Amino acid sequence: MISFARGAPAPECLDAELLADCARAAVLGDPGVLAYGPGGGYEPLRAWLGARHGVDAARVVVTNGGLQGFVFYTEELLAERPGRVLVEAPTYDRPLKILARLGADVVPVAMDAEGLDPDALESALRGGATSFLYTIPTFQNPSGRTLSTERRRRVVELAREHGVPVLEDDPYGLVRYEGEPPPSLHELEGGELVTYASSFSKTVAPGVRVGWFAAPADLAARIEARAVSNYISPPFLTQATVHELIGRGAFEPNLERIRGLLKVRRDAMLTALQQELAGEATWSEPQGGYFLWVDLPVDAADLLTRAEAAGVTFVKGADFFADGSGSRAARLAFSYASPSEIGEGVSTLASLLRA
Ligand SMILES: Cc1ncc(COP(=O)(O)O)c(C=O)c1O
Repeated sequence: MISFARGAPAPECLDAELLADCARAAVLGDPGVLAYGPGGGYEPLRAWLGARHGVDAARVVVTNGGLQGFVFYTEELLAERPGRVLVEAPTYDRPLKILARLGADVVPVAMDAEGLDPDALESALRGGATSFLYTIPTFQNPSGRTLSTERRRRVVELAREHGVPVLEDDPYGLVRYEGEPPPSLHELEGGELVTYASSFSKTVAPGVRVGWFAAPADLAARIEARAVSNYISPPFLTQATVHELIGRGAFEPNLERIRGLLKVRRDAMLTALQQELAGEATWSEPQGGYFLWVDLPVDAADLLTRAEAAGVTFVKGADFFADGSGSRAARLAFSYASPSEIGEGVSTLASLLRA
């Protein structure tokens, strides 16, 4: 099966030798990583992340991947500020499931090619009490879209005007193949309302399960307390491994290597789509990340059934909408399959579309 469904890095992205070496150095260098410790994470890594975001280390909570932090953040916010949770339409499917499980009232906010539509956000904010806005402004999962700088400024203005907290989820920002990065919402706002979340899943390895939140001080303390009551302390061994990798200057070269491997895949998918589907479908052209979004002339669920029978899989658009829309759209991940599989898979999808 050629998978355009897996939002995972190609196996070559994961440097087992480097990680094994860093893990060994980490545990021998600081045997404390084998003990219980602070629920908010490995202190040297917190300090490094704090310096990177210009916040005190106590405001950084290192969680078991970004998604675990999403659960803690949402539980805290829903308890503190009951109200609707505003999400992009479409948005990452796992948070949608978590929000449904937690009984949140989810309000989808429209996007276009430039990302979240600030006018739609403004009218949603006027529509009732809001707990928080969840947004993925850069190389969004699932659409691959990036919010323009001008819109970032408007989103920050609106958050301030309405006093609404924002969760900025940014696991893909550093996985950029070209172009200049826009400022984060967190930088623009100063970190009073905006909590910044990211993870080493895409820049080191998903298996290390190291994500982080840079949050307002009081919220960070409450998220940390939640972490303690859930798992006492996080796995310091993997956090210290990531810290060792950074400390020995391997983070940037490893990231550059990953960017190279994934850019070839992004290019292969754009080329194949242009050759096979120009004039029949439209798609986003992300400058980074893992995904692109295709608007189809046919029903995606039906196409998926036929595609899987022919050995290609993807995720249908409807899975990323709270209200079941998106029936004629698909998320294609270019991160996992090889460049030749990407060409073959797109060609299979194109022939099924025409059949
Ligand atoms: C937008 C977004 N947020 C969070 C995550 C979760 O990442 P992790 O829990 O591996 O840090 C993902 C993973 O695909 C994602 O796409």
